[in-house]
Amino acid sequence: MTPTLKTAIAERISRISVSSTMKVAADADKLRQQGVDVVDFSAGEPDFATPDNIKQAAIRAIDQNFTKYTAAGGMLELKKAVIARHTADFGTSYQPSECVISVGGKHVLFNLTQAVVNEGDEVIIPVPYWVTYKDIVNYAGGKCVFVDTDEQNGFKLTAAMIEKNLTPRTRMVIINSPSNPSGAVLERKEFEKIFELTSSRGIYLLTDECYCHFLYDGSPFSIASLPGAKETVLVAGTVSKSYAMTGWRIGYGLTPAALTVAMTKLQSHSTSNPTSISQKAAVEALRGPQDSVQQMLAEYRRRRDFVVPRLRRIPGVTCNMPEGAFYAYPNISCALGKNGINTTLDFADRLLKEAFVAVVPGEAFGTNTHVRISYATSMTELERGLDRFHQFVEKLI
Ligand SMILES: Cc1ncc(COP(=O)(O)O)c(C=O)c1O
Repeated sequence: MTPTLKTAIAERISRISVSSTMKVAADADKLRQQGVDVVDFSAGEPDFATPDNIKQAAIRAIDQNFTKYTAAGGMLELKKAVIARHTADFGTSYQPSECVISVGGKHVLFNLTQAVVNEGDEVIIPVPYWVTYKDIVNYAGGKCVFVDTDEQNGFKLTAAMIEKNLTPRTRMVIINSPSNPSGAVLERKEFEKIFELTSSRGIYLLTDECYCHFLYDGSPFSIASLPGAKETVLVAGTVSKSYAMTGWRIGYGLTPAALTVAMTKLQSHSTSNPTSISQKAAVEALRGPQDSVQQMLAEYRRRRDFVVPRLRRIPGVTCNMPEGAFYAYPNISCALGKNGINTTLDFADRLLKEAFVAVVPGEAFGTNTHVRISYATSMTELERGLDRFHQFVEKLI
């Protein structure tokens, strides 16, 4: 008799898939290693260097031997800095007991979902969505309930769309505004209506504030600033994008104290504290001068204003104007069904192999006629890459 295989992979791993954004980056990297001149629009990270004052804080931390464990859920000094920045930017009021520091915003979202979602709980995710949400909900045993938004209407989410999908099993609604990948910004009035819907039913409203500082019009706003929001609104934030610190891996959660305890408990048995040196750097990012954030935003605006009109000049391609973040999400349905290209996965694959431009296929974000272009790259690269993109589509259609 053959013994039961003990080396098989656990079932829960099959609930998640490889991150498509990371796969595109790896494919592009492979080509680059073969000497191919690839223009990479796939990376969801600022091309700017981390500001010098932040780097100096990390160097000081090393020089002062701040290289030991900290509290598993992050050091008090950083929790206070997170809270003070959130108060200054959005007028919220949190206590350190309601703050956890994790290894990037993704880690916060993962721990939070694990701590909140039970087997079979429904989680509402507006489409297009950031790739990771569905995987972390699936991993927790939850059920994703996707809510489509309308491209003609700027991918704008409304409270009515959410309401139609609420059931007694709805546990949480995830909002990401400004959105990765569409750049859509949820209107404040709708956001407030969604809050009323969720809070009156005791449903969690998870707000992923990853791109909260990169808003092209109007001033940044946090739904957590509404009276009574703290009971059901869960904030997931990160220093990754606002301060060009993707590699440092610091994110934060602002949640009810009981949930902070639960997330910290989970973290204490996996990563323990985020890197002590990065925590010191994040304190400086949040407490130090904020001018670099505005400088980066001005540069993203300049690039957006080049990229979108340039995409719209390509015959058949349409593109909404992003209101925040640093992604354009053009509709390339004109190219589908042409020359063996049937899906945006095919499109992205052929664009990479034939025109050497890396983009992320819309399938990764739940739509099947778009690709995502990150304009967090230099103007020179944007010009080169979009010329290639244009020629590729023109030849195809
Ligand atoms: C919408 C969104 N949320 C969260 C994150 C996580 O950021 P990080 O883990 O790098 O802090 C990202 C990163 O791309 C993102 O796009």
